[in-house]
Amino acid sequence: MIASDLSFQVLMYDRVKFAKINPRIKVSYIACDATNLAFKDNSIDMVCTFVGYLNMGKLMEKGIIEAARVLKPTCSLINSVMYMNEDPAGYQELKKIFEENDMAAMAQYILRDRLFEIHQKNFKEVSDQITYEGIGEAFEGDLLPYAGEWFADAIITAEK
Ligand SMILES: C[S@@+](CC[C@H](N)C(=O)[O-])C[C@H]1O[C@@H](n2cnc3c(N)ncnc32)[C@H](O)[C@@H]1O
Repeated sequence: MIASDLSFQVLMYDRVKFAKINPRIKVSYIACDATNLAFKDNSIDMVCTFVGYLNMGKLMEKGIIEAARVLKPTCSLINSVMYMNEDPAGYQELKKIFEENDMAAMAQYILRDRLFEIHQKNFKEVSDQITYEGIGEAFEGDLLPYAGEWFADAIITAEK
């Protein structure tokens, strides 16, 4: 099992936490960019991320392409994502904020259809499961989800 993140500090906390959860499982912690993983093509059995790609901003699609490269054939990417509806005013406001901050792609990465297209371009089979849905609450400093609007947390499974 290999855990990766850009940040050594995040990996340090992950390591301490995981050692408490299950000290018997060996995990290698590697600081690297998810758009340029230090692994060979077709070498990994599963890629799994907890909202990691969404936190990479406009680089999400590059991360997904890289996951497809390192995965063995028939193996899967498990990508936890967030969905919003495109029409409401809150989504439109977020879209404007992303565009003004050179992150226009981010507005696409919270739309189910668009996320499916990106995964389908790089994988054979794509499916999803909604794990939570509700109305966003206001948290100072948080852009997502948008207060007062529907959102869902979902897991996309993409098989190579
Ligand atoms: C939701 S946090 C996950 C943190 C931690 N791995 C965990 O599971 O608790 C998202 C992480 O994405 C990392 N990140 C952002 N851009 C990245 C990139 N290009 N490659 C790898 N990690 C990146 C950030 O450093 C941040 O720690």
